[in-house]
Formats: sequence, structure tokens, C-alpha cells
Amino acid sequence: MTTDSLRDQHEKLGRAVTKLISEHASRLDAASVTSSATPDDLKKFFAEPLPLRGMAAEEILEQFARDVAPHAMQVSSPNYFGQFNPTPLAIGVWADALCSSLNQNAGAWRNGPTSAMVESQSIRWLCELVGYRENAFGVLASGGSEANLIALKCARDRVEAEIMRKGVGAEHLTVYTSEQCHYSVEKSLDILGLGRDSLRKIETDDRFHIRLDSLKAAITKDVYEGCKPICIVGVAGTTSTGVIDPLPELFEIAHANDCWFHVDAAYGGALAFSDKHKSKLRGIELADSVTFDPHKWMFVPFSCGATLVRHGGQVLRDSFDMSPEYLSEGRGFSDAQYDFFRYGQMGTRRFNALKLWMCFKSMGKSGYSETVERHIELTQYLASRLDELPDFQLVGEIETAVCCFRFLPETVRAMSGEEQDRIQQALQQRIEKSGKAFFPSTVLHGRRALRVNINSYLTEQRHVDDLIELLQAESRELLN
Ligand SMILES: Cc1ncc(COP(=O)(O)O)c(C=O)c1O
Repeated sequence: MTTDSLRDQHEKLGRAVTKLISEHASRLDAASVTSSATPDDLKKFFAEPLPLRGMAAEEILEQFARDVAPHAMQVSSPNYFGQFNPTPLAIGVWADALCSSLNQNAGAWRNGPTSAMVESQSIRWLCELVGYRENAFGVLASGGSEANLIALKCARDRVEAEIMRKGVGAEHLTVYTSEQCHYSVEKSLDILGLGRDSLRKIETDDRFHIRLDSLKAAITKDVYEGCKPICIVGVAGTTSTGVIDPLPELFEIAHANDCWFHVDAAYGGALAFSDKHKSKLRGIELADSVTFDPHKWMFVPFSCGATLVRHGGQVLRDSFDMSPEYLSEGRGFSDAQYDFFRYGQMGTRRFNALKLWMCFKSMGKSGYSETVERHIELTQYLASRLDELPDFQLVGEIETAVCCFRFLPETVRAMSGEEQDRIQQALQQRIEKSGKAFFPSTVLHGRRALRVNINSYLTEQRHVDDLIELLQAESRELLN
């Protein structure tokens, strides 16, 4: 081990890492977004014997700069148009370093008094944004998947008190959401012992919103067949198309059927920052629980998700609280309410609230509002450019910063559906391989489509223009 003092190690490493991070940032605009390396190529860099002796930090950082960073997906690039993965705010990146240096265990108040306060305050701000009242509360999670799991556990446990102790009985409990839901909803039901088949994926209309008539019909059929509907999940910003389900109507249906109403606003929650767009989330304040991912449209570095509950922290504690001996000594004041291990599934928890709190303070509501509005305008601009090109066809409409489309020139239109799918995938792959931009494809109503999400605050109109040029050039080549 080095004989340098801890202070000197931080000084030295801090300087070296700052250089790496700032140089990386300066190259983002021009850097290849993707790496062409295969798993076998990369294995050569990393397949080393177990290090028997420690090596100098300089050498380790050198390997990072040589082998790790250049082959990373450049998520922070303004030309990255992938899956709701943002360019992290600089203050968030450095907050992560501060978080590690304090190394608070944000599970129990006594192990991190200030981390508990910062988390509690950040949760308050998220609750206020979605229109919840003072008594609402929540808990930070690793991301939207875990946040959905926590909410669905609350929905399950509300059915009857015994379920937590004895597990799910013979009753068939059912949950309803759009076929456009995130896969974590289905996975959660599996983890919660309800089974994946208990999820009813309801069809969507031609703009990919859940169909209310189909939802009502599915509930009626299930009740007739002896199932017990327990929860409806509305999506505010679907993964593939970014659209928002009709939340007030979903609330009414949930209420009429004595169901828990959860809104998965992992992505779309940030619309609440904008006075111009927040009406799209109308009805979210009626939800029993909300998933909101600061590591998506709030540019907080991974990982940072949140489950918010309308009726206060006791709802989470009813589902998750435990009192291990070593964390239950009386301390003469009420600190258990700040023990976040009682509100979710994690024990030792990272002080993730620090980066969220710093990002909130650094951007303010106005900074987030401007960025969200600019992203939606840029996405509308992209859609209008595509609309002018006869070979491209828009799919659905722009409600957030996601634009879906297909490459369908006359020759492709004449092909079978499966061949058209292969063409979309081939175009996506050509662009990914070029390294000039990245976006995925998805399946919408059974057919492949291309999906672009503008989620970097570095993206400007010129990057969108470059993307249009790239699409034209690669699609021409593809048909040659
Ligand atoms: C609507 C929605 N919900 C939940 C999730 C899961 O979030 P995470 O990947 O942070 O677990 C995603 C991820 O893209 C999402 O789009």
C-alpha cells in the first residue's frame, strides 16, 4: 500500500482524474459514439491474472484511459439518441465523488444523519413537482425498475395483511397496464410471487396510449372469471414512444374497481418542471404511487430512481419495515422516520440523494424547464425534417422528446412486413457501426421502427441536422 497520506493521495488522484474527465468532455462532440470492438477484442484488454501486488494509481488510470474509456458507449455525446440515458451534469459527477468520500450508509439515520435529511428533502421536492400534498413521502431506488417493484409491493400488500407473512394465496391477483409498459412491471410481478401471467397487457390506440375500452373489458372478464384486480399502472412517458396514458381516466377506473393506481413516470416525470408541458401529466397527483427517475431527464448520473407515495411514508413502512436488533435501540428522539431501509428493499444504501440534491440546486426549476422544453422543440424539429423526406414515415406523435419513424421508400413498401423489419434493423445497425450517432430500434404494433430520443443537454439543432444527413446517406447506401 502507498505510504502517501490520504490527503496527498486525493490531491494526486484528484488532479489526474480531473484531467481525464475534462479531456473526455472536450472530445465528446467529435468522438465516435459507439465502439466497434467485439467482446473477444475487449477480453484481450481485461483477461489478466488476479493482481498479486498492488500497482501505482498512475498505471491504473493509464489503463482506464487506454482500454476502458475509448471503448465505452459515449452516452454523454450530443449524438447519442439512445434509451433515456442522459449526459450527466458536471455537478452530479463530482457529487458522486463527494458521496464516495463521505461513504455514508444511507440506510439508517444513525449511519448518515445528513444523508437522511438530504434524501428526505430531495424526495419532498419530487413530491411537490408531481403535485402531491405535504404528507406525501418516498424513497430513492436504484432506478425505475426497482421503484416500480417497490410500488407494486405496496399495491400487493394492501390486498390483505397476511400476504407479507404467508405469501400469495390461491386468489389470482391481476395487474393492468399498457402493452407499451416497461418490462420491469412484468418482472416485478414475478418477484412478488404473483407470476408474470398476472399482468394484463392492454392494447394501445394508434398513438400508443392504453385503450380504456379494452382495459375495462379486461377487468370485467377477469372479475367474471374469479380473479381479483389489484392495480392499474399508467405510463407517463412510455419507453418506446414517450407518450403519456390518459391518467385521470385511469384513476377513475382504478377507483371504481378498488385498485391501487401507480404511475410509471420514470421518464416523463420531468415534464412537471415545465409550465408549458406539465398539463400532459394531469392526473399524476391522483396516483397512489409514482415512479420518477432523476437519472433520466434530470441528468443525474446513474443510478438514481425514486418511488413516491401519495399517502405518506407509513404506506412504504407497512410494506418494508423491519426492526433488526442492532438498529432498534431507543435513542431518545425520533430518528426511525429517517431510516430509509424501512421504506424500501435496500439495506446498505449509497448516498445517492447528494447528487440529486446538488443537481436540483444547480439547475433549479427554470434550468430543467428550459432544457425539457428545448428537447421537445428539437424533437419536433426532427419530426418536421423527417416529414419532408418522402422515404421516411413518422410513427405516432411527439408528446415528449421521443420520435419514432420507419424508412419506407417505395421499394421497401413493396416488401413483406418481415422484410421491412429487417431493413429498419439494417439501417439502425449501419448507423450504430458508423459511430457517428446511436439510436435503437423498437417494435410498435408488431412492426420494427426506429426510435430517437433527445436526452442530452449538449444536443443542438446542428446535431439533429447531422442525424438527418446520416440517415439519408446510410439509407441510400443500404439500398445500393
Ligand atoms: C417507462 C420506464 N419505466 C421504468 C424504466 C426502468 O428504469 P431503470 O432502467 O432505471 O431501471 C424505464 C427505463 O427505460 C422506463 O422507460
